[in-house]
Amino acid sequence: MSDASSSKDTALLRIRDLQIEFGRHDAAPVKAVRSISLELKHGESIALVGESGSGKSATALSFARLLPEPPASISAKEMSINGREILKMSGRELRGIRGKEIAYIFQEPTTSLNPVLTIRTQIAEALALHRPDVTKAGRDDEIVRWLDKVGIVDSRKRLHAYPHELSGGMQQRVMIAMALCTQPKLLIADEPTTALDVTIQKQIMDLLARLRRELDMSIILITHNLGIIRSVADRVAVMFRGEIVETGPVDEILRNPQHAYTKALLACVPRMGAKQARLTAIDHTALG
Ligand SMILES: Nc1ncnc2c1ncn2[C@@H]1O[C@H](COP(=O)(O)OP(=O)(O)O)[C@@H](O)[C@H]1O
Ligand SMILES: [Mg+2]
Repeated sequence: MSDASSSKDTALLRIRDLQIEFGRHDAAPVKAVRSISLELKHGESIALVGESGSGKSATALSFARLLPEPPASISAKEMSINGREILKMSGRELRGIRGKEIAYIFQEPTTSLNPVLTIRTQIAEALALHRPDVTKAGRDDEIVRWLDKVGIVDSRKRLHAYPHELSGGMQQRVMIAMALCTQPKLLIADEPTTALDVTIQKQIMDLLARLRRELDMSIILITHNLGIIRSVADRVAVMFRGEIVETGPVDEILRNPQHAYTKALLACVPRMGAKQARLTAIDHTALG
């Protein structure tokens, strides 16, 4: 029997008709994701865009079963990574794919970085869990190699720094090093730069684009900002109220958006130096 996980023909991630509800005590469940289908080939990257509440994070978290179930209940005709059905995985199998096959970074470095542990301790922990090829004696060198890769200067001196001793952008870089040192096939970056200045945003996006090429991995970039996706993503899927309403190559969608909601999102793209446009200003009544 051939090994599905090593076949280049197998999609990295295949989602068919994903639905996610959140149960409530006092009312009918919230349908956060209504029907999402998505296929990602090895090495391919996609941006999942849509305003706050459209179901982007719930979708992405469900790929590694990171939503609390309950209140979440997830169903899908298929939800597979390298041909293996995620919804049928045991707790042990799921722990194996979290971090190792699917890694996440989030908006706030503080949700991933522990304030009372040094950078070295935190990255060493990820290596100890997922990189049996790195010996204990070789860990510091490997950590320094990753800090260099993500553009931390004086990396060896930074080993003993605590998160608060670094700027927001540097914390984000450490978080990226921590997520990628396990060499995942898929990085899910959920609004990774929303909290940062525009210039730092651009640097982090360029870094992700470079790392994607160097490491031959796929990225799912979640954002409400269509202005930042070009360097990282090949395709875009636009989400609106729990559904994908438009999908296609990045250039095509940016040049010629079809759906009214995509046009509205594009109109909100914050420009360099301009005041941050607010997506809450999108007029839903006009979208039906
Ligand atoms: N843990 C949760 N419990 C209950 N409802 C949730 C939970 N997470 C998300 N939701 C609901 O699901 C919907 C989609 O949320 P989310 O996926 O976070 O959107 P986005 O990431 O696009 O902003 C929202 O209505 C939100 O309130
Ligand atoms: Mg979100």
